Amino acid sequence: MKILLLGANGQLGWELARTCPKDVMLEVCDYPKVDFASAASLKNCIQKASPDCIINAAAYTAVDKAEQEKALAYKINHTAVVLLAKIAREKGIKLVQISTDFVFSGQQHKPYQPGDRPDPESVYGKSKLAGEQAVQTILGDQALIVRTAWLYSAHGNNFVKTMLGLMAQKERLNVIDEQVGTPTWAFGLAQAVWTCVQKDIRGIYHWTDAGVASWYDFSVAIQEEGLAAGLLKKCIPILPIPGSLYPTPAKRPCYGVLDKRSLWEKTGIVPVHWRVQLRYMLKELVK
Ligand SMILES: NC(=O)c1ccc[n+]([C@@H]2O[C@H](COP(=O)([O-])OP(=O)(O)OC[C@H]3O[C@@H](n4cnc5c(N)ncnc54)[C@H](OP(=O)(O)O)[C@@H]3O)[C@@H](O)[C@H]2O)c1
Repeated sequence: MKILLLGANGQLGWELARTCPKDVMLEVCDYPKVDFASAASLKNCIQKASPDCIINAAAYTAVDKAEQEKALAYKINHTAVVLLAKIAREKGIKLVQISTDFVFSGQQHKPYQPGDRPDPESVYGKSKLAGEQAVQTILGDQALIVRTAWLYSAHGNNFVKTMLGLMAQKERLNVIDEQVGTPTWAFGLAQAVWTCVQKDIRGIYHWTDAGVASWYDFSVAIQEEGLAAGLLKKCIPILPIPGSLYPTPAKRPCYGVLDKRSLWEKTGIVPVHWRVQLRYMLKELVK
């Protein structure tokens, strides 16, 4: 099977490339080799690769900046995805689209099911939902949509690496304890995506690591595991604060926990607890 991976230099794209099954012929493409803001560039990239399946891990992911750059966020997360889906339909290519917990407002108090009604509150969430809806409308059952949350990896910029940097520099940290979700190692998500591709699973699903944490809980774990791994030399106080003390341009879901049971049942992959995955990822930073 020939697969075109878009967004190969992002956190998930990088993990997908390094976990690619041996029987897959993988073609990777990233900005600026392909620019989602240009229809010609995207068409050209797909035409050259002529794949059986496209995994779209590329996205405009600057959540706060998107509030100012609405047109660009929509261009990458919606308009380009419309084009991808249309080309996929025309050429009979399967499309795997990655999406986000930000399609939900986070007002719910139980894990979100794939079929729950999306109600995004940020530009980023709305643009990603528009992308999802385009894929569903244009491709229906020919596509797979996997929503995930709170991604981190040894590659790229993310909360774990930011926290390790701040913990090394500062004498104390304040971290929001009101928003909860599931920290997810992109390596585990990549493995789940490959299993879906190999089992030809289609439809809309959720995948994250197991368990639940607030950003505060996650930070405390990062410090404990970072100290144990030798990545940090000192332990600093970490204080929980309400979101009102750390206002951001984009509104984030207070409760971004995704129910992944349907994909778990379909693939047989058991999600691993986020803290175990964090430990594995930090080991990679030590190397
Ligand atoms: N990060 C999270 O916490 C999170 C949570 C839930 C869902 N997701 C979703 O998961 C997927 C992967 O996220 P990620 O964290 O791996 O994202 P990421 O690290 O920000 O990577 C995004 C990728 O998209 C590429 N890209 C951006 N603009 C582009 C353009 N105009 N043309 C072509 N490529 C472009 C980037 O290229 P450059 O390398 O050149 O920038 C990068 O390779 C996305 O669909 C995202 O919405 C992420």
